[in-house]
Amino acid sequence: MDWGHENRLARIFRPDTRHTVMLAADHGYFLGPISKLQVPRDTLEPLIPYADALMITRGVARTSVDPATAPALVLRVSGGASILKDDIANEGITVSIKEAVRLNASAVALSLFIGSDYEHQSILNLSHLVDEAQEYGIPVLAVTAVGRELEKRDARYLALACRIAAEHGASFVKTYYCEEFEKVVESCPVPLVIAGGPKLETARDALDLAYDAIKCGAQGVDMGRNVWQAEAPVAMIRALRAIVHEGATADQAEEILRAGRVAGALAGVH
Ligand code: 5RP
Repeated sequence: MDWGHENRLARIFRPDTRHTVMLAADHGYFLGPISKLQVPRDTLEPLIPYADALMITRGVARTSVDPATAPALVLRVSGGASILKDDIANEGITVSIKEAVRLNASAVALSLFIGSDYEHQSILNLSHLVDEAQEYGIPVLAVTAVGRELEKRDARYLALACRIAAEHGASFVKTYYCEEFEKVVESCPVPLVIAGGPKLETARDALDLAYDAIKCGAQGVDMGRNVWQAEAPVAMIRALRAIVHEGATADQAEEILRAGRVAGALAGVH
């Protein structure tokens, strides 16, 4: 692996734990101003000290994140569809590698829509992005996107999608946790991080999800809605850090969450 590529990955995956807590806040690129992310700066500022990497668009980076205190940037570089259209899988690459270098991105990220009507285009997007990004030692994160078909999230489909991503050169893959997740991990030769998906019923559900995923071999989380739509976002990301970096159980993480909520309530913040 090239030195620059390795160095960038080490900014995302903490060298001492080889794991990462990424904060995903790129949702606006096709969903617009979704709940709790209407003003990105207000949402992100309190969470940034606890994120190893921030997955965002160039628009949010430039308008809403202080470059002096930003963690590693994982730059969303795919897009071209919105939630108003029938098929959000119709994406292309929307950002040049020159722009990624200008923004000092530690990785570039695109969605991969395996099984969709745009599968072919999506796989070529990934391959071309890997070709270009590798010229500059920039890792590529492939996101196994399922669009509106959340029921697709089973081990058979996700193992297929993650493996295809790795075969086409992704440096790491973002996917969903599912039953028999160890099979997804086992058949994917590059690190996996998990998304949280739509907000779960309780915070404990999200902690359980993270704990189970790490136990099965995920190398981190890249969660969005289950952090910043949580009742106490800062306490939530701190609890996730304990699971990912300190080997905490879901019970221990829930205790950190509870203590954080109490402290936040006393201080009048979350
Ligand atoms: C959108 C994305 C999001 O970043 C991803 O879904 C993670 O966020 P969440 O935990 O809210 O699902 O890649 O395609």
